[in-house]
Formats: sequence, structure tokens, C-alpha cells
Amino acid sequence: MEMLKMLKTRRTIRKFTEQKVEREKLEKIAEAGLYAPNAGGGQGAKIIMIEDFDLIRKIGIYNANCENRNWNGRKVNDDQPSIIDDLTIVNGFYDCQALAIVCIPKERYNMVNGIGTGFTCLENMVMEAYFLGVDSCIVGRAEATFKIPEMQEMYQTWGVDESYQPLMFLCMGYIRGNYPKAKPRKENRVLFVK
Ligand SMILES: Cc1cc2nc3c(=O)[nH]c(=O)nc-3n(C[C@H](O)[C@H](O)[C@H](O)COP(=O)(O)O)c2cc1C
Repeated sequence: MEMLKMLKTRRTIRKFTEQKVEREKLEKIAEAGLYAPNAGGGQGAKIIMIEDFDLIRKIGIYNANCENRNWNGRKVNDDQPSIIDDLTIVNGFYDCQALAIVCIPKERYNMVNGIGTGFTCLENMVMEAYFLGVDSCIVGRAEATFKIPEMQEMYQTWGVDESYQPLMFLCMGYIRGNYPKAKPRKENRVLFVK
């Protein structure tokens, strides 16, 4: 598929089947993240991959409950409801089968270039996943999730470089049900200056 078509047809998926994501695909998705543009050529992002469904669910339940879920009636998506749309969803990772955690250096956590480097990595992973037929959903609240004492303890047992901090999550799996269409784009968001 041509690149622009891929970018336009990819959607965030939150309803997953029980099918595992193959290890070879997860390796390619992570590799795509490693080749993303990165501030100052510093290759500042690190990726933690988790394939254990029960562990992902455990972290996802913390994630769903670490910040306010009530957005005063504001909706995210009816086709693929988020934890904001459907307050009965208990797992902030939507029972996905694989989870990537993109981490950046703590010292750059509040710097646009540090955050940007995490996000370019994440977006490369999203698009490689889509290319491979793997569906995904970016999920936030990483800082709040890893502030929970049990999560801090767990993080230390993973052997991650402690100068790095989780920035964002990427839920991965295979869609259950029909693939959604894009919402129309808001107008007047591009300006060419002569
Ligand atoms: C920075 C960022 C944070 C996001 N956080 C969440 C999240 O915490 N939970 C969630 O279900 N979706 C999250 N999403 C997914 C967006 O809701 C989704 O991209 C948006 O509704 C547009 O839908 P589309 O990706 O299908 O075009 C996030 C996306 C981005 C870019």
C-alpha cells in the first residue's frame, strides 16, 4: 500500500481478539521504533516489550484508574470506545496481547526534544505494526501509572536502566470486529505561505 494511503487508513483499535502477536512481528515493530528520527542523533528512546497477557492486564488496570476518567461528556470514539467513553472498561490496555512501553531519559522528560524522540519512536512502531497487519492503540498516563508504589517496585525488577522513565504505551493485538473508518478531518489546518 502506498504510504499516504496507509497513514490515512490506519485507525486506533481498542477491541482485540485473543490471538497473540507473533514474536517476529514484535521484533520488527521494535526495530522500526529504533530507526525513528531522534533529537540530536542521540537515539534517546528505549522500548520495553511485554507479551505476558496477565502482566499487561495488571498494569492496564492500574493505568485505567490512575487519573480522572470523567471528561464531562466529551467522547473519544463510539466504534472503538476508550476508557473515557465506556466506564465499565477495567483495563486501560483494552485486553491487548502485547504491550510496548516507550521510555526516555529522565533528564529529558520535560523537554520537547526528549518527548518528541519518544513519540517519533512510538509512531514508527504504530505504522510498522499496521504494515504487518497488527492493530494498535497509543495509551498515555505512563508517568502516573509508574508512580504507583507497586509499579515502581515492578519496574525495578525488570532490569531497565533506571535513568530512563516510561513515556507512553503501545497496545498491540488483532482487531475483533470491523475496521473503523477515519473521522473527517477538521478544516483549515494547513496554511501555505507564499
Ligand atoms: C498522545 C496520545 C495519547 C493517547 N492516549 C490514549 C489513551 O490514553 N487511551 C486511548 O484509548 N487512546 C489514546 N490515544 C489514541 C487516540 O484517542 C486516537 O489516536 C484518536 O482518537 C484518533 O483516532 P485514530 O488514531 O483512529 O485516528 C492517544 C493518542 C495520542 C496521540
